[in-house]
Amino acid sequence: MKKRSFSGIQPTGNIHIGNYLGAIKYWVAMQENYDNIFCIVDLHAITVPQDPQVLKAKTRELAGLLLASGIDQRRSILFVQSHVHEHAELAWILNCIIPMGWMQRMTQFKEKSAKQKQLVSVGLFDYPALMAADILLYRTEVVPVGEDQKQHVELTRDTAQRFNSLYGETFVLPEPLIPEIGARIMGLDDPTKKMSKSENAPNHAINLLDPPDVIRGKVMRATTDSLKEIRFDENRPGINNLLTIYQAFTGESRETIEARFAGKGYSDLKKSLAEVVIEGLRPVQERYRSLTADPAGIDAILEDGANRARPIARKMLGEVKARMGLG
Ligand code: TYM
Repeated sequence: MKKRSFSGIQPTGNIHIGNYLGAIKYWVAMQENYDNIFCIVDLHAITVPQDPQVLKAKTRELAGLLLASGIDQRRSILFVQSHVHEHAELAWILNCIIPMGWMQRMTQFKEKSAKQKQLVSVGLFDYPALMAADILLYRTEVVPVGEDQKQHVELTRDTAQRFNSLYGETFVLPEPLIPEIGARIMGLDDPTKKMSKSENAPNHAINLLDPPDVIRGKVMRATTDSLKEIRFDENRPGINNLLTIYQAFTGESRETIEARFAGKGYSDLKKSLAEVVIEGLRPVQERYRSLTADPAGIDAILEDGANRARPIARKMLGEVKARMGLG
């Protein structure tokens, strides 16, 4: 029996190389060894205001990008969260057993609510309960995510444990699976900040659908430092980030990369990195173009995914409700 793996991604903004290197690339690689479910989390997206038409278009775009990156609908379930209403229902139930204090510790809420210019919704605060529902509905054992989601997976685990101790063994306790390389890609404009979809600065992120010239321009303008030596060093976030991206795309060792750039300048590194990123994204972009020529085909894959996810979720929710004396 393969272990069950579940992960999710929001259909908001532009999907960038942080999402790709910290999550999607590993999801693709894991398909052989795990029993995988991947979810486009549109209910999480609406925790901040969304234009309905844009949200709909972004959901399909993201499905296209995931398939183009190598998610194979025959080996993995790929579906949209709002198509399986058990997620929202379990989230409500979990709301009622998660202490406020646990939620108040969530660093992502603190960051996101501070940035939010319009109202901060209860949904944004409650986001981790819905994420816990996503994970727990499928008896998930591992959750492959970037570094920023670790705290949410830990809260999910605590929630499962609390439910089990209150109502008897029901949920499997999930573990986060964080990649060694690429788990925290930083912004190109400010390498002290995580690369993020919600950041609008033009030179912040490389998006998966950026054309080659745009990628070249962004990499060449990336913030570095005034030193010269090209080596992995966490105390030099700009150069460290560029080298990490290089390493994540090429799969080469740190030593090989440092040796290649010994005695060379930052602009040599940047030129070479731009080509590595362009070549790394080229097959994804090509497949994306051919897949999205048939939007009905993408919709059919998502519908089939929801049809396969629903019975698993329904069974788990039924068990939870029975344990709690509901229904
Ligand atoms: P989201 O949509 O923000 O990001 C999707 C995945 O990309 C990773 N990631 C990064 N990795 C490396 N460097 C970065 N700069 C970077 N930015 C993002 C994220 O860690 C994530 O793995 N809450 C989740 C979605 C979610 C989910 C779930 C995940 C909802 N339910 C259940 C796992 C299980 C989120 O907002 O991801």
